[in-house]
Amino acid sequence: MNSIVSAFRSDPSGTAPKQHGAVPMLELNDSNKIPMLAYGLGTANSKYASDDVIKATTTAIKAGFFHLDGAEMYGNETELGKAIAASKIPRSSLFVTTKLDNKPEYVGQVDAVFTQSLKRLNLEYVDLYLIHHPAMAGGDPSRLQSLWRELEAIHASGRAKSIGVSNFLAEDLEALLAGDPKVVPAINQIEFHPYYQRQAVITLCREKNIAVSAYAPLSPVIRVPGGPLHTSGLLPGLAKKYGVNEADVLLRWVIDQGIVAITTSSNEVRVNSYISNIPNFKLTPKEVETIAETGAEAFHRCFFQSNFKEGDTR
Ligand SMILES: NC(=O)c1ccc[n+]([C@@H]2O[C@H](COP(=O)([O-])OP(=O)(O)OC[C@H]3O[C@@H](n4cnc5c(N)ncnc54)[C@H](OP(=O)(O)O)[C@@H]3O)[C@@H](O)[C@H]2O)c1
Repeated sequence: MNSIVSAFRSDPSGTAPKQHGAVPMLELNDSNKIPMLAYGLGTANSKYASDDVIKATTTAIKAGFFHLDGAEMYGNETELGKAIAASKIPRSSLFVTTKLDNKPEYVGQVDAVFTQSLKRLNLEYVDLYLIHHPAMAGGDPSRLQSLWRELEAIHASGRAKSIGVSNFLAEDLEALLAGDPKVVPAINQIEFHPYYQRQAVITLCREKNIAVSAYAPLSPVIRVPGGPLHTSGLLPGLAKKYGVNEADVLLRWVIDQGIVAITTSSNEVRVNSYISNIPNFKLTPKEVETIAETGAEAFHRCFFQSNFKEGDTR
């Protein structure tokens, strides 16, 4: 394992954080700090019964997952709020995200929709409010820009400390930025893992000082097992070298590129193991590169496949 060197923070440039024995923080373009490892309330959690979501999320917060990734779409903002209260962790120590649901009829109504999210969360503010998917603007740049102005108004009110987007391609970001926004999105949350590396949108985000967060980071282990990272022996080999699990290596591969990793788990052993392992090892730049090169031998998009034509790897 690499030695502890400093508490250097990452930023949207893609610089890897230095290792310092705690979940690393990334400084957003608005100076707010975001923990680089998050616990998600979507995917598996959106399918669980209410009490199970509260229990699993409370366990995750108590273990040290202080960045919580929620959304109206997940149908469990109320459970997230209850877990936050049950954890007894001070609100100021937590980083809570929620997202505007992908409903075209919400354009023009964002303040009212957001107010309902806050009510369900039982919070006075969120740390981050995201447009869940650009599709709600129907591919109309002026509609997207006016939607963004609604988020800017919420930001100005102080009820969302940072605002950003999710599932935006480079073209969607260009369309939003063409509206000359007062606030540049702080982050773009996208699917990202070694089998879906998103270079066009990530390059644009770095140029514009927009951070990137990655969902579905464990896809090579849980959704596409047996791909080149396994047939080459690379992923099992790195897990063995660092004495961690393959999932830890994949999360660290994201973080070591200056990207925020969003995972989830209902398994207490796994939740605790992420919090103890992730801060305590770091991949070398060569290992980050080799995973990228080996991963690039396969292409697997795991979410929103129907939005793309065959052969489109954006
Ligand atoms: N913005 C968007 O459109 C969007 C889309 C998708 C997701 N997200 C966000 O990202 C979060 C994480 O997404 P994700 O679920 O795709 O993350 P992920 O990190 O790729 O997968 C997490 C899942 O992997 C399972 N897992 C981990 N290790 C395993 C193992 N060794 N064997 C079997 N299963 C294992 C976990 O199950 P256990 O419970 O068994 O540990 C958990 O359900 C979501 O909750 C959501 O907040 C956002």
